[in-house]
Amino acid sequence: MIRMTVTIAVAGKGGTGKTTFSALLIRYLIEKNKGSILALDADPNANLNEALGLEVDTMISDILDETKDPKAIPTGMTKDMFIDFKMSHAIVETDKNVDLLVMGNPQGPGCYCYPNDLLKKHLDSLSSNYNYLVADNEAGLEHISRRTIPSVDFLFVISDASVRGIRSAKRVKELVDSLKTPVKKMFLIVTKTQPEGIEPLKPEIEKTELELIGTIPMDPLVTEYDIQGKPLFELPGDSSAVKAVHEILSQVKL
Ligand SMILES: Nc1ncnc2c1ncn2[C@@H]1O[C@H](COP(=O)(O)OP(=O)(O)OP(=O)(O)O)[C@@H](O)[C@H]1O
Ligand SMILES: [Mg+2]
Repeated sequence: MIRMTVTIAVAGKGGTGKTTFSALLIRYLIEKNKGSILALDADPNANLNEALGLEVDTMISDILDETKDPKAIPTGMTKDMFIDFKMSHAIVETDKNVDLLVMGNPQGPGCYCYPNDLLKKHLDSLSSNYNYLVADNEAGLEHISRRTIPSVDFLFVISDASVRGIRSAKRVKELVDSLKTPVKKMFLIVTKTQPEGIEPLKPEIEKTELELIGTIPMDPLVTEYDIQGKPLFELPGDSSAVKAVHEILSQVKL
């Protein structure tokens, strides 16, 4: 079967601006009327919901923890049915064309291992109902390496304007190259840039062997919204970060 859902993943070192970019990417898809979107917060330190201005009460990790106790599964229901049912209830629906699912934090090491196949199956069938799956990942790309996310059409590797961020982006690239998960297109984005630009970072960027698709400037409005806990959907359209994301994404056939 041909998978019609376009999968977009965002990765990079902690604090570089992955969630900010993911939220603005989702905003772009909505503004361009691209169709339905399932936003997947695949970072254990979930905060995409805040950027999108949504409340979350159930995370996938809660469901997986719950299913560890056989008594939690109602009689007459298989574990499979139970997870399916629970997952459909964990989706946060909005009045826009985007729904949100939060992976959450596994309790104890290796918690995702055992139910991984189940999770993969459920996520696969769930995401096939959407035109886009947008996943905000942590740096280790756990859900991509475990193939909970089976294939990626576009991977945006985010770095801030620091040598350490760029080196991290290089490690993400190496990790992706070593994985079996097919990733069709990979791009580098440098965020929180200063007016003087990224010229000094160019040699380090070269070494990543990633295609630099654009930069997102340090935007005081993003800082302000972050402090006030305001969703990035409400940023004015002429904010420099919003404009930069639009410019970047207009270069890609999403
Ligand atoms: N273009 C920007 N201009 C100003 N501030 C920004 C910009 N992009 C991100 N930030 C700020 O940088 C911080 C980290 O951003 P964000 O949460 O998007 O990063 P992250 O990579 O998702 O972090 P984490 O690894 O903690 O999930 C936040 O305080 C955010 O407001
Ligand atoms: Mg984040």
